[in-house]
Amino acid sequence: MAAATTGGEVKAIHSSESTKTLLKSEALYEMSEDLMFLSELVILIGLGFDQYMLNLMVYPRENEHLRELRLITEKHSLGFMGSPPEEAQMLSLLLKVMGAKNTIEVGVFTGCSVLTTALAIPDDGKIVAIDVSREFFDLGLPVIQKAGVAHKVDFRQGPALPILSNLLAEEGNEGKFDFAFVDADKGNYGNYHEQLLRLVRVGGVLAYDNTLWGGSVAMPDDAPLTEHDREYCYEYFELGLPFFHKAGVAHKVAFRRGPALEQLDELLAADDERHVDAFDFAFVDADKTNYVRHHERLLRLVPVGGAIVYDNTLWDGTVALPPEDAPGLSEYDRMISAAIRDLNARLAADERVEVCQLTVGDGVTICRRVV
Ligand SMILES: C[S@@+](CC[C@H](N)C(=O)[O-])C[C@H]1O[C@@H](n2cnc3c(N)ncnc32)[C@H](O)[C@@H]1O
Repeated sequence: MAAATTGGEVKAIHSSESTKTLLKSEALYEMSEDLMFLSELVILIGLGFDQYMLNLMVYPRENEHLRELRLITEKHSLGFMGSPPEEAQMLSLLLKVMGAKNTIEVGVFTGCSVLTTALAIPDDGKIVAIDVSREFFDLGLPVIQKAGVAHKVDFRQGPALPILSNLLAEEGNEGKFDFAFVDADKGNYGNYHEQLLRLVRVGGVLAYDNTLWGGSVAMPDDAPLTEHDREYCYEYFELGLPFFHKAGVAHKVAFRRGPALEQLDELLAADDERHVDAFDFAFVDADKTNYVRHHERLLRLVPVGGAIVYDNTLWDGTVALPPEDAPGLSEYDRMISAAIRDLNARLAADERVEVCQLTVGDGVTICRRVV
């Protein structure tokens, strides 16, 4: 019988006193104040349920090819993105129960959920599998081929939104699909939903992954979460975030999504001007053509004595070349080089800052605000 401890007293969960399940047990929530912030999901994992369930129900029945792909995926530095085997088991069961034949997958990575789907649908079934990266899919493709189901996978490389629009524009695709699995950039889930509602037939199923986001969706508004965790998942930052958590510093990052100029303007427009002169240090390494505009805003956000640092201020040395002497330069490099050259000239003449141009890396310019 399952039991939980409360202040030394061991309570039986399934007893005549209580008909609550372990998950709903008050005892669990009384164990520690901190636990109030944790989701039921985390509680389950903490109690070792995941291992129990995996060992009993999942691993013994895992398809050999799925197992091989899972082990390959786990070794990848981004392996945490792969769908776990218990989720694959649920997907497989659902697809078979509903008799799905044509499906859409948004977010493929190495293909764990694609292979699961390919093994579950009939031999003449098809998966339109979409991912911005082909590189990840190529890692899993040999296993999908070995499993004899590669002919069911129609991989399309690129951002999912335009690919879904193209699918919709193709004759006969509206309402054609039985099932869609979405596991890509979370910020676009709402947009995917609108398109998928037209592509998936009435009675079909749309499945979205990560909809608990570590349980944070159920936390109170003032829970200590990063801006990122609170609002959305932003692809690039998402890749690094686990390492921030591991290093114990994620709570120091207030991630803000959006064009930097807008974000800086929002900071400047805050009530009481509380962000003005509030930052000791700024590091700028985004859209180079806007550096001069970032500079004007940062000079208000960073106080006298603070530092503003710009990256890539040599642009591979091209800033020292007059444009007419660089015929081999691409249009893009020519544009960035001109923007950086403009920034460098302005900083050199800017009496509001002390400057120092370093030749480390691709060029770093340090500005210290003096007035
Ligand atoms: C969590 S992984 C997918 C995991 C996969 N479902 C599995 O079971 O292993 C997310 C994937 O979405 C892809 N992705 C991110 N943004 C995307 C976008 N806008 N369009 C298409 N794919 C995207 C990433 O390249 C990554 O491979």
